[in-house]
Amino acid sequence: MRFNGEVAVVTGGAGGIGHASAKLLASQGARVIVADINPEAGEASAEDIRQAGFEVRFHEVDVTDYDSVEKLVQFATDTYGQLDIMFNNAGIFSDGSKNLMDMPIEQYKRMISINQDGVFYGIRAAAKAMKERGGVIVNTASIYAYIADKNQLPYHASKAAVVGMTKAAALELARYNIRVVAVAPGMIDTGLIDPWRADEKVFNTIQKAHMRRKLGTPEQVAQVVAFLASDEASFINGHAYLVDDGAAAFKR
Ligand SMILES: NC(=O)c1ccc[n+]([C@@H]2O[C@H](COP(=O)([O-])OP(=O)(O)OC[C@H]3O[C@@H](n4cnc5c(N)ncnc54)[C@H](O)[C@@H]3O)[C@@H](O)[C@H]2O)c1
Repeated sequence: MRFNGEVAVVTGGAGGIGHASAKLLASQGARVIVADINPEAGEASAEDIRQAGFEVRFHEVDVTDYDSVEKLVQFATDTYGQLDIMFNNAGIFSDGSKNLMDMPIEQYKRMISINQDGVFYGIRAAAKAMKERGGVIVNTASIYAYIADKNQLPYHASKAAVVGMTKAAALELARYNIRVVAVAPGMIDTGLIDPWRADEKVFNTIQKAHMRRKLGTPEQVAQVVAFLASDEASFINGHAYLVDDGAAAFKR
C-alpha cells in the first residue's frame, strides 16, 4: 500500500480527474473525502468508491467561497482528526469561447473565481490544518498554463496562476514540512471537454495535439497525483508536472 490511512480531500471529486484520483488514493490506503459543488454527482462518486470497498465520505463545497472551503477542511479534521493530502482540483473550462474584446467581464471573473481563487482558498485552508504535522497539497493546472489557444484568455490566466501559486506556496510552507505541487494535464477525456465533442473536426484537431494522437484518461492523471501525494515524491516541491503526452513539447 502506498498510503497508510492518510486523510485526503479531493475537490471537484465528482468529475473525471477528481473521481479517478479519489478512487486511486482510496484504493492505495488513503481515507478520502470527495468534495464538490454538485451533491448528486459527488454522492455518486463516493458511492462508487465505497462499493469498491474503500473508505470515503462526501462533503459539499463551493470553492469560490472561502468559508465553504474552511468548513470542508474542518469536516476532514473533525471526521478523521487530521488532513494529510489536499487535492485542489475543482475547475471549469470555458462557458463559450470569446475573443478578449468581446468576452463579458463577468465570464472572466467567474473563471478566475473558480479556477484561481478556489485553488488559493484550498491552499490556505489546508495549510492551516497541516502546519503542525506537515502534508502535501496538489493543485490542478493545465498545459494551458504554458501554451496559448485563441479565445481562452481567462482559462490561461487562471491556470498560469495555479503554477505561480504552487511555487510561492511551496516556498512559504516548506518550514511546516508541507510540499506544494501541481499536475498540468493535456486534453483529458472528461465532461469538461464535452463542448468540443459535437464538432468532429475540432475534436480530431484536439486529439492530434498529442504526440500519440489520443486524449488522456482521468486515470492517467490520477496516477501522477497519487505519486506526487506520496512519500515517493518526497523531494519534489514547487513544480507542476505535465501529463500531456508531449502536447506542450512540439510545434503543431
Ligand atoms: N479535462 C481536461 O482536458 C483538463 C485538462 C487540463 C486541466 N484540467 C483541469 O482538471 C480539473 C478537473 O477537470 P475535469 O476534466 O475532471 O472536469 P470535470 O468537469 O469532469 O470535473 C470538474 C468538477 O469540478 C466541480 N466544480 C466546478 N465548480 C466548482 C466549485 N465552485 N466548487 C466545487 N466544485 C466545483 C464540478 O462540479 C465537477 O465535478 C479542472 O481544474 C480542469 O481545469 C482538465
